[in-house]
Amino acid sequence: MKKPTAAEASLSRQTFNRLRDLVREHAGIDFPDEKRYLLESRVKPRLLAQEVPDFETYADRLEQGDTREIARLVNAVTINETAFFRHPSQFEALEDTILPELVRLHQQEWSGPMRLWSAACSAGDEAYSLAILIRDTIGPRHPRMDYEIVGTDIDTEVLEEARAGRYRKRSVRNVPPAYLRDYFDRSGEAFVVDPAIRDMVEFRPLNLTDAQDMRRMRNFDLIMCANVLIYFNETSKKNVLQGLYRSLRPGGYLFVGGSEALGELDVPLEPVRHEGALAYRRPTNGSVSSRA
Ligand SMILES: C[S@@+](CC[C@H](N)C(=O)[O-])C[C@H]1O[C@@H](n2cnc3c(N)ncnc32)[C@H](O)[C@@H]1O
Repeated sequence: MKKPTAAEASLSRQTFNRLRDLVREHAGIDFPDEKRYLLESRVKPRLLAQEVPDFETYADRLEQGDTREIARLVNAVTINETAFFRHPSQFEALEDTILPELVRLHQQEWSGPMRLWSAACSAGDEAYSLAILIRDTIGPRHPRMDYEIVGTDIDTEVLEEARAGRYRKRSVRNVPPAYLRDYFDRSGEAFVVDPAIRDMVEFRPLNLTDAQDMRRMRNFDLIMCANVLIYFNETSKKNVLQGLYRSLRPGGYLFVGGSEALGELDVPLEPVRHEGALAYRRPTNGSVSSRA
């Protein structure tokens, strides 16, 4: 009888459990039972690339500690949907109230650059949106302020796209026409971020569920961590939120996705509503029992 090939391989319940445990352990991403076929379709190209005949052999290889392949598996299962100015009301709140407040605090009490972090930045759209906003609005009004903008993601392939700064029309659909004119160049069908904006952002790999990675991120004035907590289970989500809380400077702000609700929080972040946008602020006297 002919041996089945990788293209014909199917993911049994048992091997699904093994692969989903690996993904959860290395990225915090949770695949509930009903997402078995999604995991199967995301992982199958890895079987073909690695020339292994079935999911069982592939899982064996990962469990033996093939760290390069584990990173590729994580790249394969992440959902990277993003866009510039994805939640426009958040950027309005930043321009109208939050960034001016942070500038004031810097001028009166804080030293050093204003530090902004796009956590789980995918292809960089959000980090560059922040850079454009700073460059166009707050920067000219406060020419002596310095800014550091960091974009991080667990997916190393998507970070390469972020560094390249080339986008399709769909990604820039929310960009105001004046920003599109001033901060993008056209190259055929692509919209390419202006080098001056690209130079404002540093992209690095970071796993939000890795305590060591998170300890390196401190004293941020603003963190945008949108549309990623939804992929974690309750325990990972709780741990990530604690990490983000510690990464904020007292008085700093956190945004999650426009339609994400954090529910009951076990970190003392204060919800602050700005028109249509909900932000979370770390109180100036807040603390959290620290494992960091
Ligand atoms: C749906 S995208 C959201 C992108 C952007 N934040 C936005 O709202 O447009 C989710 C991103 O989270 C990243 N991600 C998933 N698990 C992660 C983890 N454990 N640490 C860091 N990034 C992670 C994925 O690689 C993906 O790029």
